[in-house]
Amino acid sequence: MITVTFLGFGNVNRHLCSALHEIDQVSIKQIYNRSDIQLPSELKDIPFTRQLSLLEPADVYIIGIPDDAIASFSEALPVRDQLVVHTSGGVPMDSLSEKNRKGVFYPLQTFSKHRTVDFNSVPICIEASKDRDRKLLQQLASPLTKRVVSISSEERAKLHLAAVFVNNFVNHMYAVGADITSRSGLSFELLKPLIAETARKIEDLAPSEAQTGPAKRKDLNTIEKHVHLLQDSNYKEIYTLLTESIQKTHGKKL
Ligand SMILES: NC(=O)c1ccc[n+]([C@@H]2O[C@H](COP(=O)([O-])OP(=O)(O)OC[C@H]3O[C@@H](n4cnc5c(N)ncnc54)[C@H](OP(=O)(O)O)[C@@H]3O)[C@@H](O)[C@H]2O)c1
Repeated sequence: MITVTFLGFGNVNRHLCSALHEIDQVSIKQIYNRSDIQLPSELKDIPFTRQLSLLEPADVYIIGIPDDAIASFSEALPVRDQLVVHTSGGVPMDSLSEKNRKGVFYPLQTFSKHRTVDFNSVPICIEASKDRDRKLLQQLASPLTKRVVSISSEERAKLHLAAVFVNNFVNHMYAVGADITSRSGLSFELLKPLIAETARKIEDLAPSEAQTGPAKRKDLNTIEKHVHLLQDSNYKEIYTLLTESIQKTHGKKL
């Protein structure tokens, strides 16, 4: 049995906690959060505390709080020589306090409070300062997903950087698209099949092969019209920058 305590109960930890609670070989020891929270009904029986001084021994402590707070939070933990991991893509393992054994348990997926996550297909990137701790994290992650990968902090930083492009930036493009359609009295729903096919396409094609559109075709008149149609100067800048980037990638100058 692996005992796990969750430190912080935000987007990631609440999903991880619910998923690990389902696993027979895992027992959730405690949930800590700095303010009061409503535990989901399936986790109601798990002891909750707001006091770090009341933390009990566990095999793994999982910190799931904003990146910038991880280092100081881990320093303030009253436990010693325990395995303390964080769930961040962008924070090096060495940011964690020296007082404990360090590790990382990074689920490479986007988590929002009220969206169910199917962990089966989620890669979990693990790292640990000690080999036996890496094995323990592997054991913890394996019942959740087949995709457990052991990677260094440097590799994880690059993976996280790539993830920001393919998820956060792409999602921002959806927001821009939604703004343009709503300002024109059009439905964003009309764009959803295109969004879905764009994501599906790269299952079979390399992203550079899947690229279409005026920038790749060098349709200069269409590009000019689009820039003219955009009223927002920020959107004009984004459009021009991305158009130039596509042109460079496909070996053509605007
Ligand atoms: N969201 C994602 O899609 C995603 C994906 C992979 C990895 N991650 C990583 O997972 C970690 C958590 O992300 P998240 O999205 O779950 O964050 P989040 O929802 O914003 O986390 C909020 C949690 O952090 C606590 N918290 C905030 N500031 C704190 C502080 N200074 N000290 C102690 N607790 C603090 C909050 O406590 P209160 O309730 O008291 O405010 C709450 O429990 C981050 O390192 C992030 O990089 C996120």
